[in-house]
Amino acid sequence: MKGKILVTGGTGFIGSHTTVELQNAGYEVVIIDNLSNSNIDVLDGIERITGIRPAFVEGDCTDIATLRRLFDEHPGIKGIINFAASKAVNESVQKPILYYRNNLNILLNLLDLMPEYGVKGFVFSSSCTVYGEPDVNPITEDAPIKKATSPYGATKQISEDIIADVIKSGSPIKAVLLRYFNPIGAHPSAEIGELPNGVPQNLVPYLTQAAIGVRKELSIFGDDYNTPDGSCIRDFIYVVDLAKAHVRALDRMLQDESDNALEVFNIGTGDGLSVLQLLDAFERSTGVKVPHKIVGRREGDIEKIWADPKKANDVLGWHAEADIDDVMRSAWKWQQRLRERGIM
Ligand code: UD1
Repeated sequence: MKGKILVTGGTGFIGSHTTVELQNAGYEVVIIDNLSNSNIDVLDGIERITGIRPAFVEGDCTDIATLRRLFDEHPGIKGIINFAASKAVNESVQKPILYYRNNLNILLNLLDLMPEYGVKGFVFSSSCTVYGEPDVNPITEDAPIKKATSPYGATKQISEDIIADVIKSGSPIKAVLLRYFNPIGAHPSAEIGELPNGVPQNLVPYLTQAAIGVRKELSIFGDDYNTPDGSCIRDFIYVVDLAKAHVRALDRMLQDESDNALEVFNIGTGDGLSVLQLLDAFERSTGVKVPHKIVGRREGDIEKIWADPKKANDVLGWHAEADIDDVMRSAWKWQQRLRERGIM
């Protein structure tokens, strides 16, 4: 056993896939989740894939007493991966206080307790949203951080600054900031995947729901951007590849492979794909047609952004490996599984 890791938000989309990869790599996982945007059944899916049921605490990381109890009941935690956060861009504009309160209090509580409980490594779920609209693509970690376009994005920028300040102050912890691009897909087993509450805001869950008939049609937000086909360009990263990046980041911190107490990595494929190209990849790889229409631009959207992942490739020894057609098929298989289970 490599050591005990606390995964906050571990029943969520990225948290559940990361728990699987941590267990596969020999880590012992303790999950805390308040189930505000996920379901307890996710634990069954994780167990079916790995043969191991992670320890689970239902609770809210904004409550420091709950976290203290967790650390007392699960002694010897070596690292934390912090997924627990509110993450809907639109909602954050409507409810900024909720977003600042949740995302920042969770972070502060965890950083506060780490030295006291001897927790060494911290992995933070950051986002390419910290860059805003890039001046050049692919974008490197040194690119300027521009003013956030939403409270959600602001919480990611402020969180990065808080972690840097805490480390500068001499806290005995190490931290890695992973700036994710656009995570998509589902575990190949279709035991776990993405299941947003209500109407999906993100492209792939909306697309698969339109494909299966839960939604009438997919709206493509804009075909008049300055891109080859007029739709926005993103770097779509397979969630299983993304999950593996967390395992590498933890290994590196816990084995002291670096003298730097704080490191930051872009986690993307290095390839930009347009929204229309992604739709085409889905239809090509699954043979399923998706009803869709072009509508006006969505406010706040970035025109084009994709990662330069060279630093993660060289330093972490991590590469995005998945083929986009396989990723699209995994998303479709998951959507079909939800239908079989009568969920959607
Ligand atoms: C946003 C956030 C990102 C966050 C991610 C996941 C920004 C700039 N980005 O990414 O930080 O991690 O959500 O919550 O805040 N699209 C459609 N039709 C749809 C849905 C989306 O055409 O029904 C298009 C969008 O206009 C966009 C692309 O698909 O061009 C991707 O959208 P989405 O999946 O929402 O992710 P981002 O906005 O890139």
